[in-house]
Amino acid sequence: MFQNIFQKKQLMLKIIMVKNKRQITKISPSPSFSKRGVAILLFLLLATAFIPGARGEGVYNNTKHGNPLTGVTRDAAIPRGSCKQCHSEGSGAIKYPKSLWRENDNELCYTCHRNETLLGIYPGQRIYDTSTHGTEPRFVWPGPFPSARKDIDAAGKCQNCHNPHGSKDRIGIIPNLLIAREETLCLGCHDGAPAGDILREARKPYSHLIRQGAGKHSSDEDGNPARYSYAGGNRHAECSDCHNAHAIQHNVSFQTAPAASGKNSRVSRIQVINSSPESIPGYQYISSNDTGAPLNEYEICYKCHSSWTQQPPGQPDMARLFNTNNASFHPVEGQGKNQGIDPNSFTGSVNVSSSIYCSDCHGSNDSNLRGSHGSQFPNILRRPYEAQSNPRVTARDELCFICHNYDTYVNAASASLFQQASRFNAPASINGHVFHVGQKNIPCYTCHDSHGSARFGALIVIRRNPGLLSFSMSSNGGSCLSTCHEQKTYTINYPR
Ligand code: HEC
Ligand code: HEC
Ligand code: HEC
Ligand code: HEC
Ligand code: HEC
Ligand code: HEC
Ligand code: HEC
Ligand code: HEC
Ligand code: HEC
Repeated sequence: MFQNIFQKKQLMLKIIMVKNKRQITKISPSPSFSKRGVAILLFLLLATAFIPGARGEGVYNNTKHGNPLTGVTRDAAIPRGSCKQCHSEGSGAIKYPKSLWRENDNELCYTCHRNETLLGIYPGQRIYDTSTHGTEPRFVWPGPFPSARKDIDAAGKCQNCHNPHGSKDRIGIIPNLLIAREETLCLGCHDGAPAGDILREARKPYSHLIRQGAGKHSSDEDGNPARYSYAGGNRHAECSDCHNAHAIQHNVSFQTAPAASGKNSRVSRIQVINSSPESIPGYQYISSNDTGAPLNEYEICYKCHSSWTQQPPGQPDMARLFNTNNASFHPVEGQGKNQGIDPNSFTGSVNVSSSIYCSDCHGSNDSNLRGSHGSQFPNILRRPYEAQSNPRVTARDELCFICHNYDTYVNAASASLFQQASRFNAPASINGHVFHVGQKNIPCYTCHDSHGSARFGALIVIRRNPGLLSFSMSSNGGSCLSTCHEQKTYTINYPR
């Protein structure tokens, strides 16, 4: 199966290259042997001293460009993979630096990389030329390893990330002809200069990036759950698992959840087909080049945080928790079930019809930085929140109050307008939210799941300790038995 895709991919490339070659032969009449030919030979001879792979012992010959069977080809008269496919006579009178057959810009790469690859990580010229990296004037490799790009037209060049000869670091040959390995590449720029500081995020105590070993990600892992699995020792999260360096759209008008941001466009993902609560949904892997299917942010997360792959022991299956057939869930896959909640119980711009992103809760503690990269708070949360149910004071700066009103759920001194906005509060139930959370220091976590609840409304969770032992809702209230008290019933402030 995989073999087939691979062969198809080769075939596609061949076709692309045959097409391109036709164009080239049209514009460049076949060169006569000249002084320039000798110069190129000399150049390549000297070059072998500087390009380690040229002498066959190392890099270039072990890259996809240097492969004698499948490597670079532009001129059928020259062997496949040969340096001369790129370093040979240009057309007409112009002589290009480094004996390249044409100018050293992205057009050189597009000769063979105009279209997207079949597996789709590289989306082709049309997408790259409008992407943030392709258009941003500050997009220039700053060095020091490899050294900074000095060419005046460096901005936007593929070569800020790729080396057509391949590169090596102390681990070995760097995959995908990249100039630096995995996050070292991205963080080479994304450390504050010239680009937004993600290095700072990666260094935080809770992060996606530092705790996983290098070398586990691969550009051809897509579609294979074992490549992300705990059992195989393959857990990892690389920049390229959530971003496609060629397709990032910095300033596409802000998306609405669940649609992924333009910063995460063209990334592979797992679509779910939900059935009954508690059952594992149907999974469908969608490759990064499938632009027909919608790209929702949570689908990217499901590559690693659902039972599509094998998660670490104890980590909940997020796809089961967010199943839209569940009794309740935070509105990540779709609008929530509890459509009658009073608007005064919310803060900010959310209400019952909002959908939210995983990254609305899982993100940086710095409010001006988006993305689930790292945080000073556990579980990569944007604000503090403890995953334990022992009594403690719930503070105004906690996670839940980005969207829910502290004055509704905690503050006993708040106006009744806000307290009444929750069904589980005075006047109908004197021992409601404010009593439990504000006065008895029972945290939200004791009674609520953060993601979803298959059987109970209102994200109620049982069997936490301290916590609820059983729970049921009636038409005008509910009843609960807990580790703290006997069975008690309550009535609600307004109908559900
Ligand atoms: C896919 C096209 C391609 C192939 C194949 C290729 N080169 Fe290059 N080469 C380039 C480009 C583009 C540059 C300019 C690099 C830059 O601007 O950083 C370059 C630059 C060079 C330089 C100048 C040093 C430098 O890095 O700027 C040398 C020397 C060189 N190549 C030798 C070789 C040798 C030897 C081979 C075969 C082993 C080879 N090249 C194969 C595209 C290619
Ligand atoms: C003369 C044709 C040609 C030119 C010019 C060319 N490439 Fe390639 N490139 C290829 C071929 C062929 C492959 C191998 C495809 C395969 O094996 O699937 C390839 C593969 C790649 C890969 C994937 C490597 C991997 O290990 O996954 C990258 C990245 C790449 N090229 C970047 C570039 C860049 C950047 C330039 C311009 C500096 C460039 N190429 C110029 C033909 C070319
Ligand atoms: C040569 C420098 C450079 C490299 C390498 C680089 N970037 Fe960027 N990137 C930039 C610049 C410059 C911008 C635009 C300025 C900014 O947003 O900070 C940018 C923008 C972005 C954005 C959009 C930011 C926003 O605010 O909208 C994302 C996402 C991104 N890069 C991810 C990556 C990933 C992932 C990698 C590695 C695969 C990477 N970058 C490698 C320079 C780089
Ligand atoms: C911001 C950095 C960056 C820039 C700029 C960039 N690439 Fe890439 N490219 C990557 C990374 C990272 C990968 C590997 C992705 C992965 O590991 O999933 C990659 C992979 C590829 C691949 C292999 C795709 C596959 O399916 O195996 C090709 C081909 C490629 N790039 C071509 C290009 C060309 C051509 C350009 C310029 C038009 C370019 N890239 C510009 C970072 C970049
Ligand atoms: C390519 C795999 C991958 C993807 C995609 C991914 N993660 Fe993760 N994530 C991990 C790994 C690996 C860890 C470390 C713990 C583990 O193995 O689950 C982790 C940890 C976390 C944690 C902290 C859990 C803990 O035990 O401390 C949260 C929260 C999280 N991810 C949320 C997300 C969100 C939100 C998304 C989507 C925006 C996402 N992840 C996408 C691999 C991934
Ligand atoms: C409304 C806020 C919110 C949303 C939305 C949200 N989470 Fe969480 N998540 C939390 C909180 C709070 C915790 C820590 C407490 C807990 O485990 O319940 C957590 C914990 C986690 C953990 C660690 C669980 C463990 O026990 O190891 C993972 C992984 C995770 N979330 C992934 C996701 C993914 C993936 C999404 C989207 C599909 C998502 N979360 C959406 C709030 C949220
Ligand atoms: C687990 C998934 C995941 C990983 C891994 C990941 N990102 Fe992100 N990144 C996101 C999400 C989600 C966003 C938010 C997009 C949005 O809301 O606009 C984001 C946003 C960004 C932004 C823009 C920040 C802003 O304030 O708008 C940059 C730059 C960026 N990521 C770079 C990187 C780099 C570099 C790496 C690797 C070191 C990386 N990301 C790894 C998911 C991820
Ligand atoms: C002692 C258990 C308990 C604690 C602690 C608790 N809740 Fe609730 N919560 C409930 C019950 C029971 C309901 C269901 C009310 C009903 O029957 O409609 C509920 C309902 C809700 C609702 C649905 C809308 C509404 O208010 O009627 C939200 C939102 C909510 N809780 C948020 C929170 C937040 C935020 C915290 C922490 C600050 C919290 N809860 C703490 C028991 C609790
Ligand atoms: C990013 C915004 C956001 C954050 C942060 C958030 N929520 Fe919510 N929450 C919502 C929205 C929107 C709804 C309404 C869904 C609906 O109408 O069914 C909701 C609904 C709920 C409900 C009622 C669900 C139902 O179906 O009855 C509970 C309980 C709840 N949240 C608890 C929490 C707790 C506890 C936290 C903190 C750990 C939290 N929320 C953090 C946005 C958020």
